[in-house]
Amino acid sequence: MFLLEMNHIKKSFDGLGVIDDISLSVKEGEIVSIIGPSGSGKSTLLRCATMLERMDGGELIYMGKKAAWEEDGSVSYVKGKELREVKSCYGLVFQNFNLFPHYSVLKNIADAPIHVQKRDKAEVYETARELLAKMGLEGKEDAYPCQLSGGQCQRVAIARALALNPRILFFDEPTSALDPELTGEVLKVIRSLADLHITMVIVTHEMAFAREISDRVIFMDGGVIVEEGTPEEVFRSTHERTQSFLRNYAG
Ligand SMILES: Nc1ncnc2c1ncn2[C@@H]1O[C@H](COP(=O)(O)OP(=O)(O)OP(=O)(O)O)[C@@H](O)[C@H]1O
Ligand SMILES: [Mg+2]
Repeated sequence: MFLLEMNHIKKSFDGLGVIDDISLSVKEGEIVSIIGPSGSGKSTLLRCATMLERMDGGELIYMGKKAAWEEDGSVSYVKGKELREVKSCYGLVFQNFNLFPHYSVLKNIADAPIHVQKRDKAEVYETARELLAKMGLEGKEDAYPCQLSGGQCQRVAIARALALNPRILFFDEPTSALDPELTGEVLKVIRSLADLHITMVIVTHEMAFAREISDRVIFMDGGVIVEEGTPEEVFRSTHERTQSFLRNYAG
């Protein structure tokens, strides 16, 4: 079953095309990495998938239910309860963590499950503590984000996303704000999620990691998918644009 189907997504900013007819579907349990040069539209694609950005064309289907579709030359989105249901399908982890600075670690994790999902407070706090332990952050429950390292903040952000029990997790360059040592900690956590078969879509510049963890790698350039396939296929590609990107990457 597809958890997410994106069909013919289009997005422009000020008349300038950034996403040009991209279709991409993600199966349950699949780990998809998106790689590509800066400005190729990777973040915009994730922002369209997660409805942080309005698309100009195309449709979004989560778990078989239409979340957005073309109608009379523009894109309509589900509203109200249906919108909340769609939003509960996925979690997002950004480059800069986006934690609430004035909330403790535990409150950062527990806030949305309690106030948005209206779950039982005691149950949510228990889950939040378990998630923190899984992230290797036992004892940090009462710390504030400013008292943590970047890698620890990112692990809190991952715990916060997981606390909402999403079916699919999106990551937008989860380690690019971190130095190499802290990057390793975060990649380890993402690997542990892969072992649990959590469905993930990961935009990353960590090529070795993408190669190791992904079921499928998507190479984007200029707002289109240039190539996609297994890590072996993409990293050994003979396609000129893919090769040139990977070569530049290797330095
Ligand atoms: N809100 C916006 N307003 C105007 N232009 C935008 C906006 N967001 C993105 N763009 C433009 O869209 C293009 C794609 O940007 P996007 O952030 O999706 O690229 P990216 O592949 O994520 O790059 P990076 O690897 O640097 O994060 C860029 O040219 C960018 O300037
Ligand atoms: Mg980006």
